[in-house]
Amino acid sequence: MATPLDLRQAFGHFGTGVAIIGFHDRENRPLGLTINSFASVSLEPALLSWCLANESQLYDDVAAVSRFSVNILAADQVDLSNRMAGSGSHELGADEIEDVIDSAPALKGALAHFDCYVHHKIEAGDHLLLIGGIDGVRYCTKQRAPLIYFRGAYTGLAESAGK
Ligand SMILES: Cc1cc2nc3c(=O)[nH]c(=O)nc-3n(C[C@H](O)[C@H](O)[C@H](O)COP(=O)(O)O)c2cc1C
Repeated sequence: MATPLDLRQAFGHFGTGVAIIGFHDRENRPLGLTINSFASVSLEPALLSWCLANESQLYDDVAAVSRFSVNILAADQVDLSNRMAGSGSHELGADEIEDVIDSAPALKGALAHFDCYVHHKIEAGDHLLLIGGIDGVRYCTKQRAPLIYFRGAYTGLAESAGK
């Protein structure tokens, strides 16, 4: 049987993008949480998913939200990604928020935003699986590099990929 460490390392070989979940906590502060468990789920109806660790200090706030945003990060947003991944540093500054749609903050500089309501929450082992119903979507039409996470570190797309 694989140990949690084996699993973490094996999962880490799946290179992903990086996103920040935006939401308001129970005191109505705009918060962000860095994730890479984002997945597209369905086009019709429009659904996506992500997972929150049960041990997160944000668990109770996230479990109480009815709406959240998913902000797909660009390669130049490593600092913001690190800040929103650090314990106790999840508050978003007003200058980092492009606008607030239906109580979910959309972040400046992101490649794409999804504005979501909570469609379903499923307790799944040591994580909470959130399925978001997508009410709105915006994306950047310019060619910009995404932030990539692979084997526990940030990286970028290989120049030769797809050629
Ligand atoms: C690239 C990256 C991806 C992450 N993905 C997730 C994720 O999908 N789900 C999650 O709960 N935490 C994820 N984390 C960890 C959280 O961002 C954060 O570090 C952790 O939740 C900090 O603890 P706190 O939530 O108690 O403040 C990720 C961190 C990084 C750097």
